[in-house]
Amino acid sequence: MARHRIALLPGDGVGIEVTVEARKVVDALGLEIDWTELDWGSDHWHRTGSMMPPDWEAVLLAHDACLMGACGRPDVPDQVSLWGLILAIRQRLDLWANVRPARLLDGVPCPLAGKGPADIDMLFVRENTEGEYAGVGGRAHQGLAQEVGIETSVFTRHGVERVVRYAFGLASARKGVVTSATKSNASRYGYVLWDEVCAEVAAEHPDVRYERVLVDALAARMVRSPESLDVVVASNLFADILTDLAAAVQGGMGMAASANLAPGANGVPGLFEPVHGSAPDIAGQGIGNPCGAIWSTALMLEHLGEHEASARIVGALEAVCRDGPRTRDIGGTATTAEVGDAVTARVAA
Ligand code: IPM
Ligand code: MN
Repeated sequence: MARHRIALLPGDGVGIEVTVEARKVVDALGLEIDWTELDWGSDHWHRTGSMMPPDWEAVLLAHDACLMGACGRPDVPDQVSLWGLILAIRQRLDLWANVRPARLLDGVPCPLAGKGPADIDMLFVRENTEGEYAGVGGRAHQGLAQEVGIETSVFTRHGVERVVRYAFGLASARKGVVTSATKSNASRYGYVLWDEVCAEVAAEHPDVRYERVLVDALAARMVRSPESLDVVVASNLFADILTDLAAAVQGGMGMAASANLAPGANGVPGLFEPVHGSAPDIAGQGIGNPCGAIWSTALMLEHLGEHEASARIVGALEAVCRDGPRTRDIGGTATTAEVGDAVTARVAA
């Protein structure tokens, strides 16, 4: 059995609470795992002036995966905490695919009338290093009445092609539908390039049905007929927005899991994180939903080749969501730890 070196990065806020439970679940599998706990995040910033130590890249590269909780806190400016940690990691390690399953589990209340688990099983593939998040732009005339802020989207053929091709590969193993979301009716350059690349990749995949949808129309369709969607691929910003909507459709932010990956790059660890963020409004109360973090460990183990262990976690999560206990965001009264303990018990059984 392979040993796995996993960096545990609880980060900030509720991230600390949910990663405790996620680790508990993984530990119950009895795999050979070396955990390294990293104290990076907002406290680190207050202590040292940066969210991560200077050798952060080498530290991560010495691991097979990173399990993260969340980063960001009201006492650190957002662009400092995010560009100092999660966005820096995605960019620098070139984790170009952000994979986010949005599946409604049995027992989890769905906000859409008349929809149930059979209707909600989407997989989002978000371009994770360029587009509207490229970090390109500038400010001029700061503080003056004529001040400007320019934010430039960057789309490269290479960047678009790799993520679109990855989405088609995933669709082949699912229902065989790829929906690409852009806004090429209003924006005439980057999204038009994106559409062209999609059409080329689609032509190489006759087994997959490809459709191009404008992102605004797609948002409406996710609410009206989520069952018509399988794999959705979109730019960094569009998929950021769509995946919060998808999380709501699958029962709330607490349910949503994600994987930041560099598919095919040897020796580059994936980073796995729940989508909910640090949730300062409920942090420290022990009531956050650990399901998104636990689900993220299943994505991590799948990526590490531990298919059976991953399936066991998903099975245990499904059973706990169906039978309880559940946290209050999904209609229960349980604490974070009670849910973590219940999933752990099912995994160990
Ligand atoms: C996410 C988050 C991040 C993003 C923030 C924290 C920068 O919202 O992972 O979806 O927008 O990518
Ligand atoms: Mn987001």
